Amino acid sequence: MQYKFKISLFYKILISIFFVLSCNEVKKETIYKKGMVSSAHPVASKVGLDILKNGGNAFDAAIGVHFALSVVYPNAGNIGGGGFAVYRLNDGEVGSLDFREKAPLKSYRDMYISNSDDGSTVDDKKSKIGHLASGVPGSVDGMVKLYEKFGSLDWKLLLEPSIELAKNGFSLTDKQSNSLNRVMILFDSINDSEVSFVKEIKWKENDILIQKDLSKTLERIRDKKRDGFYSGLTADYIVNEMKKGDGIISYEDLNNYSSIWRKPIIGKYKEHKIISMAPPSSGGIALLQLLHGAEKLNVGNYEHNSLEYINTIAEIESRVYADRSTYLGDSDFYNVPIDDLIDNKYLDNRFSSIDPSTKTPSNQIKEGNIQFNESEETTHFSIVDEYGNAVSLTTTINGAYGSKVVVENAGFILNNEMDDFSVKPGYPNMFGLIGGEANSIEPNKRMLSSMTPTIIEKNDNLYMVLGTPGGSTIITSVFQTILNVIDFNMGMQEAVDAKKFHHQWLPDFLVVEKNTLNTNLNENLKKMGHKINERSSLGRMDCILIENGILEGGADKRGDNTALGY
Ligand code: DON
Repeated sequence: MQYKFKISLFYKILISIFFVLSCNEVKKETIYKKGMVSSAHPVASKVGLDILKNGGNAFDAAIGVHFALSVVYPNAGNIGGGGFAVYRLNDGEVGSLDFREKAPLKSYRDMYISNSDDGSTVDDKKSKIGHLASGVPGSVDGMVKLYEKFGSLDWKLLLEPSIELAKNGFSLTDKQSNSLNRVMILFDSINDSEVSFVKEIKWKENDILIQKDLSKTLERIRDKKRDGFYSGLTADYIVNEMKKGDGIISYEDLNNYSSIWRKPIIGKYKEHKIISMAPPSSGGIALLQLLHGAEKLNVGNYEHNSLEYINTIAEIESRVYADRSTYLGDSDFYNVPIDDLIDNKYLDNRFSSIDPSTKTPSNQIKEGNIQFNESEETTHFSIVDEYGNAVSLTTTINGAYGSKVVVENAGFILNNEMDDFSVKPGYPNMFGLIGGEANSIEPNKRMLSSMTPTIIEKNDNLYMVLGTPGGSTIITSVFQTILNVIDFNMGMQEAVDAKKFHHQWLPDFLVVEKNTLNTNLNENLKKMGHKINERSSLGRMDCILIENGILEGGADKRGDNTALGY
């Protein structure tokens, strides 16, 4: 395994930083041979590309990109949130890191229910906005853990581009300026201190966003790694910020936080090996269930996005999400029946009632019968390096700009990940997902996620690296992108561009991207009983396809996503 590269490249990287700052135009071709980074922002992709070109490996680049996104993509990139990384080394070894947020020690099951005696009033605003919405952040610990195991360049060099971008600013894209304008009032009302995202007049494209406090926080992380965030000044700032609202994150929570190496979920789709994320993400298990259904029902034989195709997929998805809501949660706290849920016999039976020409009303779908043996804001990036290592990483602060709380003096946004717990059995979270005991709130527990960073092998070789944001729609977008490539022979970019749809059992809606359905198809789906809910877009995929030694990027045009390589 050759993932180490040990020369100091300080000057080269510094030169690259100036290039990043001066570079508004980036090459858009997405076919390369050596290495590639596909991320939600062109500047972050450029940071990763420079690290790769300077001899860094995919993990060095992932760390650089993650910190860069915390600056240039504040709606989801973060140091105040958490995520998951799935990797495959060039010798075939696979693994994953869980740096998901945890419920603070002072959290408790009914913390968002105002009258727990009759259990009636859920104050779900508190799980979404403000200080009480945040779990204990995991991102910085995650990056340090990735570095300690696989990093090859100097840690400080990986942080330098982000520090410069925060200190000197970067220019906003059109989409970003609009997004900040939408949220400015909320930022202003939640925070009593000055926030770099708020200004007197509206943001416009090419305005420079400077984040001085964030640059100092990143400097502390550069100098002290984990301690630069979980103790010292940054910890003081977080705990002080908590005191200003109803926040409960304590020094003890910060000190105790630790990300965890987990065995990925591994399965097969046709001749492909699928490697994805285990609980506390539901992504890997749900993805394998979906793919099993797709293979059993031969969905590749239908015309892409035709009536039978959409209905069959929606039927498979409904059953999978019904299972998710009952059985999935943090496996360190709840006995998630992982093997049973992806067992071939169980799944054959689970999908046996599907008729491609009939829609089953969601109230007639229940979770499957498992016999217990007792006992649109996240961001994903995909990286392949010239040594053949791959990293698939999804990270989030949950909703756009998380809890909207910006830690005073530290300049970063805290997540609102507590809303991913089931705040009350059967009560929907912000993505309409429901849950129960498996995903109830407990101190130190991780909230269930849909993030699905995935790597696929074909004939024992690295084949695809993919993932996306999108809340509950993450799993189904990853699923359909895989089908697009494997069953419909699309290239990576084409598979990402293709229109997507989504069914999550409850609410009983077929969510469809605008312009997916012609009038006929729309009418026929309605006749089957589908209630159609149109959305402007689904997913912001960042993917890489590796075939015959060629890397093809798939960066979602629905966002500012950009794949760069060399
Ligand atoms: O972990 C999860 O499943 C969610 N917190 C992800 C949030 C998300 O993707 C928001 N993007 N649209």
